Amino acid sequence: MLLTQPMPATSLLSQIDKEKLPQHIAIIMDGNGRWAKKRALPRVVGHEYGVKSVRTVAETAATLGVKYLTLYTFSTENWNRPALEVKAIMALLVRTIRKEVATLQKNNIRLRTIGDINGLPPDALKELKEAMELTKDNTRMDLVLALNYSARWDIVQAAKLIAGKVKDGQLKVEDIDEKVISESLNTGHLPEPELLIRTSGEYRISNFMLWELAYGEFYFTDIYWPEFDQEALYKAIIDYQKRERRFGKTSEQV
Ligand code: IPE
Ligand code: IPE
Ligand code: MG
Repeated sequence: MLLTQPMPATSLLSQIDKEKLPQHIAIIMDGNGRWAKKRALPRVVGHEYGVKSVRTVAETAATLGVKYLTLYTFSTENWNRPALEVKAIMALLVRTIRKEVATLQKNNIRLRTIGDINGLPPDALKELKEAMELTKDNTRMDLVLALNYSARWDIVQAAKLIAGKVKDGQLKVEDIDEKVISESLNTGHLPEPELLIRTSGEYRISNFMLWELAYGEFYFTDIYWPEFDQEALYKAIIDYQKRERRFGKTSEQV
C-alpha cells in the first residue's frame, strides 16, 4: 500500500483507545461558507451540507462512547450576518430538528442546548423545546447545541445569577469559588470538554467556552465543516490521545 493513500476508517478506529476517550468533545463547526464558495454555490448550501456532517459526527461519537458532544451552531455574533443568511440558518435549524428527532430518539441521544435560546425565533424555540422534552430521558450521549451562545454572554448571565443570590442572602461573597461559577454557567450540567475541534483552518476560539476550556486540548484541521467525516473525527481523537495532559505539573508527575 502506498503511504500516500488515505487511511481507511476501520484502521483509524483500531488506533483509538476506548478507555481513554474524551467524555466531552466540543466542536467549532466552521467553513460552511467557504466550502460553498469553492463550488460556486450559495453559502446556505454550505450550511445544508454541514448538517450532514453533524449527523455523521453525532452518530460516530455516540457509537464510540463519547458522552457529551457540544456543537457551536450559532453564536451571539452570528446575528450580525446578512439577514437572509440568518433567516436561512434558522429555517434550517427548524427543518433539521423536525427531521432528526426520531433518529435521536432511536439512538438514545438526548438533545440539549446552551445559549440564550429565548432569543431565537419562536418557531425554532418551539421545535427545540419539543425535541428536548421528547429526548430528555435518553442516556447514551448528550448532543448539546450552542445556540445564540457566546462565552462572554454566559459569564455575564452567571455573574448576574450569583449577584442575585448574594443580594437575596442565599449565598455569601466568601463562598463564591470556581465551583459556584462553573455551576452558574449555562454549561453547569456538562463536564469540561477535554477536546476542542475547530475546522476550516481558523485558529481562534471565537467566544466559545472561555471558562470551560481552561485546560482543554485544541485540535485544528483545515477541513471545511461539510467535509468533516468519520475519519476526520477519528484522527482528532487519535491526536488527542497522544498528548500528555499535565495541568501545570511536570511530565514526571503525571
Ligand atoms: C460555520 O460556517 C457556520 C456558522 C457559523 C453558522 P461559516 O458560515 O462561518 O463558514 P465560513 O467561515 O464563512 O467559511
Ligand atoms: C464561530 O464561527 C461560530 C460558529 C461556528 C457557530 P464564525 O465563523 O462565526 O467565527 P469567526 O467570525 O470566523 O471568528
Ligand atoms: Mg466561519
